[in-house]
Amino acid sequence: AKTHHYKWAVRYEFKSPDCYEKLAITIDGTTPGPTIMARQGDTIVVELKNELQMENVAVHWHGIRMFGTPWNDGTEGVTQCPIVPGDTFVYRFTLDKPGTFFYHGHYGMQRSAGLYGLIQVSVPNGVVEPFLYDEDRSIILNDWWHNSTYEQAIGLSSLNFRWVNEPESLLIQGRGRFNCSLAEFGGKCNQTNAECSPHIITVVPGKTYRLRIASVTSLSALNFEIEGHNMTIVEADGNYVEPFVVKNLNIYSGETYSVLVKADQDPSRNYWAAINVVSRKRTTPTGLAIFNYSPNPPLTPPPIAPSTGPPWNDTFSRFNQSLAIKARKGYTVPPPQTSDKSITLLNTQNKIDGYNRWAVNNVSLLLPATPYLIALKWNKTNAFNQSPAPETYDDYQNYDIHNPAANINATYGSSIYRFPFNSTVDVVLQNANMMKPNNSETHPWHLHGHDFWVLGYGLGKFDPVSDPMKYNLVDPIRKNTVPLHPYGWTALRFRADNPGAWAFHCHIESHFFLGMGVVFEEGVEMVPRLPTSVLGCGDTKRLRMPVKSGG
Ligand code: C2O
Ligand code: CU
Repeated sequence: AKTHHYKWAVRYEFKSPDCYEKLAITIDGTTPGPTIMARQGDTIVVELKNELQMENVAVHWHGIRMFGTPWNDGTEGVTQCPIVPGDTFVYRFTLDKPGTFFYHGHYGMQRSAGLYGLIQVSVPNGVVEPFLYDEDRSIILNDWWHNSTYEQAIGLSSLNFRWVNEPESLLIQGRGRFNCSLAEFGGKCNQTNAECSPHIITVVPGKTYRLRIASVTSLSALNFEIEGHNMTIVEADGNYVEPFVVKNLNIYSGETYSVLVKADQDPSRNYWAAINVVSRKRTTPTGLAIFNYSPNPPLTPPPIAPSTGPPWNDTFSRFNQSLAIKARKGYTVPPPQTSDKSITLLNTQNKIDGYNRWAVNNVSLLLPATPYLIALKWNKTNAFNQSPAPETYDDYQNYDIHNPAANINATYGSSIYRFPFNSTVDVVLQNANMMKPNNSETHPWHLHGHDFWVLGYGLGKFDPVSDPMKYNLVDPIRKNTVPLHPYGWTALRFRADNPGAWAFHCHIESHFFLGMGVVFEEGVEMVPRLPTSVLGCGDTKRLRMPVKSGG
């Protein structure tokens, strides 16, 4: 196994990913940042220098389980203190499995500002994967707003609530195209800027490609398709899946897939690769890349108009796609057949003292000034509420998920769930109506530090007696991010086998920002002494050893 060293400078720069110029967070001058390419078992060392001038930062390695290094998970408020401007933090971790992953900012709403990139992990030399392809291609999908992340964050957290609204553009590999004639007066928009010329996926006729797709969207669920080409799904979140052919793929924020695509269409022309918003009423134009058959000129547009995607509100077909994905035969790791504990997490939109929030079992998460992992290791019992977080919601029997709650008020909380090391935990996510009648949206839930088995999905209210009998305990897919469909439930199981403190949250940036998350702890007593570099905030201001500037 090898060690890969990176030195990254994180800073704001003026960028025009969709032709409209705004401040974006870059790594070494680019957004998306550099793609990390390595093999399973390799070690990654990233020396990250915060050059944001006026803002803290932290970077999370999404899908990497951080075995033995829970303090390097990069989750501000949970596993580390933020990296202050001018400071350098060294992330060091091992790639525990092959697959498609990514990294992104995990402080405030910095992911929305452009701080993200791909991680591509190959199998070790000599290991053969259960499918064949000629070459790899990868794309990372995002949604993009023209106002600043500050405006978004302040709008969301003001008494005079301002919603972020739908994104102006969708980006494929950091490139989109805004119609500059719609730009506000004073907005700098230039359709001939090379930064916003479409991403090109070049293929050779007859060859088969493994297209790795990751979604880091802040809000949007997306539907991806390549005009005229079938896609065979073979990997999801770093786990092999039973090959499954689709014309289009629904992908939620936080998910990754590999699909096999054969360049088997008329080679004399190019094709559109298109993303469209689903699950929310779309106002954002289709995001486009060009699937370029070599040797055609890459920028020659395909002769027909791009697809505008399936109906945005076709929940049923998205639900069915979730159901259809199974673990790959021969690679199935069956889940433990029973669990030690089951918790139910009701997702609701609420008010607290007049502020708009999201809550889980009526508690809206406020991250403490002392990150959980640090508070637990240093016994700072005042850092967060020590009473256990609620394992279900009040009046579970009578709660009507199809209507706004009778009492929409919730409370702030900082309690966590503590599981015995190596115990097996079931989590039932339950969706419900939002504050507005007849509205329920898709929430993609992401668990740090683990893969979980997806035991089942349902539409409607979970029945604790009959629904567990329908759990798939034979070949469920393992994932780290899973959709919770509108008015539905999703059940998952995981083994609490990774000592540390781990965030579990909705991957919609504004939802987590407004409290839609919880924290799990297991085996924290087995975590060795934390490096001083993660300390220095909250109750640990004095614990940080002085370091030389920049080091
Ligand atoms: Cu990709 Cu906690 O997130
Ligand atoms: Cu959400």
